Amino acid sequence: MNDFIIVNTLDELDEESKQLVRKAQETLQHAYAPYSKFSVGAALLLDNDEVITGTNQENAAYPVGMCAERVALFAMASRYPGMGLKKLAVAARNEYTLSLSPATCCGSCRQVMLEFEQRQNKAFEVVMQNLDHKWVKAPSAESLLPFSFTKLGMERG
Ligand code: THU
Repeated sequence: MNDFIIVNTLDELDEESKQLVRKAQETLQHAYAPYSKFSVGAALLLDNDEVITGTNQENAAYPVGMCAERVALFAMASRYPGMGLKKLAVAARNEYTLSLSPATCCGSCRQVMLEFEQRQNKAFEVVMQNLDHKWVKAPSAESLLPFSFTKLGMERG
């Protein structure tokens, strides 16, 4: 139950994961990525079975842009305070190819995902495509960020 599932095609994943990836893919068109030309969509499956999506939002002052995952997570926390999530899926596309591009969550997003997981006190799955174009289903945010910095460290002597 705590293992990574890695498959060659999306079809080999469970139905819930496939559908969430499709939602992430559908929302790509709303990305604002004029600088990187790399559109990313994230979809969250909430505990109430609703889906919240987010896309990357870039800025001429590059570092102030925001990844799709964090846009979606912060939107969820704002719109549904206290709501948990079961799964996060990411899909990405560059402007040169029609098929999806690999996009595994960046370190900053993993840090934010971990805190969401700790706030809700239960794991959520993460589905994304790796550099080999395989689909990875991680059992938790924690599994993607070993030896992480969390508020627990701040509380201990
Ligand atoms: N990006 C995401 O939105 N999510 C990821 O997981 C990786 C990177 C965005 C940030 C930036 O707008 C563009 O992709 C290129 O890095």
